[in-house]
Amino acid sequence: MLAAWTVFETRAPVRRSFGNMDKLLLIDDEADVLYSFHRIFDSPEIEIVSASSGEEGLKLFSKAKPNLVIMDIRLGGMSGLETLRRLRQLDAKAPVIMMTAYGTTQAAIEAMKLGAYDYLLKPFDVPKLKQIVLGALKAARDMRQVVSYQPLLETEDYALGIVGRSEPMQQVFKMIGQLAASDATVLITGESGTGKELVARAIYHHSQRSTQPYLAVNCAAIPENLLESELFGHEKGAFTGAVAQHIGKFERCHQGTLFLDEIGDMTPATQTKILRVLQSGTFERVGGNQPIRADVRIIAATNKPLEQAVAARQFREDLFYRLNVVRIHLPPLRERREDIRLLVQYFLKKLGPHPLRSISNEALALLEQHGWPGNVRELENILRRAVVMAKGDVILPGDLPPEMASTPKTPARGAAASLALPTPNADVVNPSSSEPAAPSDLAALAQALFHWARQDNRRKIIPAVERELIIQALRETQGNQVHTARLLGITRATLRKRIEKFGIKREIAIR
Ligand SMILES: Nc1ncnc2c1ncn2[C@@H]1O[C@H](COP(=O)(O)OP(=O)(O)OP(=O)(O)O)[C@@H](O)[C@H]1O
Ligand SMILES: [Mg+2]
Repeated sequence: MLAAWTVFETRAPVRRSFGNMDKLLLIDDEADVLYSFHRIFDSPEIEIVSASSGEEGLKLFSKAKPNLVIMDIRLGGMSGLETLRRLRQLDAKAPVIMMTAYGTTQAAIEAMKLGAYDYLLKPFDVPKLKQIVLGALKAARDMRQVVSYQPLLETEDYALGIVGRSEPMQQVFKMIGQLAASDATVLITGESGTGKELVARAIYHHSQRSTQPYLAVNCAAIPENLLESELFGHEKGAFTGAVAQHIGKFERCHQGTLFLDEIGDMTPATQTKILRVLQSGTFERVGGNQPIRADVRIIAATNKPLEQAVAARQFREDLFYRLNVVRIHLPPLRERREDIRLLVQYFLKKLGPHPLRSISNEALALLEQHGWPGNVRELENILRRAVVMAKGDVILPGDLPPEMASTPKTPARGAAASLALPTPNADVVNPSSSEPAAPSDLAALAQALFHWARQDNRRKIIPAVERELIIQALRETQGNQVHTARLLGITRATLRKRIEKFGIKREIAIR
């Protein structure tokens, strides 16, 4: 009997493995500021702890291990800058935001050079405050949440995993491992949603720079004229609106890792500057003429075909070669369908804690044969929706988007024509039967066969399956009919009859 559905069991109750609460340490002697923060960031996802002096703040930092520190630059007792210096000795990468009043921005700039993440001007502009704080919390999460590239399923509580067992993903894992000891520039390519950012973070977490900052810049999301300043900073008066000096990401990320996302969208001017940093390790702030040295490891990513951009002269060829030192290409999900089942299992766990832990084989088969233009991100989103849609504790085809249940865009893996039976999967258990469980991939295979048969009503599933099984078994046993009959659980006489009926020739069977 086939399993009614595929159950992905989690052995222990799932803890909040993926979205730990953010802890924010506020160091300020003004009670009003603490009150404002509580009001602005009132959320079950954020916990605020506070200290009213640098000394107290440092103690609390070691004890509470916050993800983000927000500190006034003017503190009674130990100054904000001194507190920052000591804090950096305790932890080189925890993001620290300095608060400063108008007129004291020079001190804030000093703080940035000491490795502060950013600074805020008092009184606060609330949308800007939120933007900076949420950005810093995201950076903190990226630095803290280790991305494991071991193809594991029993993910550690604190680890995010890159899931995949397919051959191309194994190559990716191998490359990440090989890169761990080096500082080489890496270029990650692949369609949208294939996991480029995840791979960038895995490289960072396994590199020698993992105790130093990791910052990300999305080159496509920042308006052209601001990107250069975001990356390299600017001097006061460099352009209209540059009312104060600004320290860019390269400078803030000294000794760390900078992830340049969507690099295919950079202007020629920015490309030239990036090339220069890669060649000489120096750059200038916009409007400045002092060369600044930065020791930054670059990981770049793009979903655009850069070779074409080079040919069209939209992307500098010399920069392309500089970035392309080590290239990791992430294959689209439709080219590694064998990973879909694992990804489904992983996401169902990740979307927990929830009683819903299973998916019907029919729904799984639909997922396995979908075209996945949005790749893993699309799969994650569809499952997120399905978890909400599902009425019981099993995801059924009706919980998937309606277009998925109709005509699939591409046939299932290798399709029914080659009936390679998948190996039984120990992770999948049959919930209701005491019989030895058949490989529950069989149900997925059956779905694929139904799809194959529906395409042409002359196709007959059962004889096709029988014929293919016999051919495969003969190949497996090098044409030994005794062994083939035993493997298939039929008599030798039946086997002979079938071989004749299906016209299986020796040379077809043993290739
Ligand atoms: N192999 C994988 N295992 C587990 N999760 C994955 C995997 N690949 C991608 N994801 C998840 O899918 C989502 C999209 O991944 P990511 O943001 O890294 O894609 P991307 O290639 O950077 O896409 P884009 O080009 O659109 O920026 C993320 O939530 C990521 O965690
Ligand atoms: Mg991305």
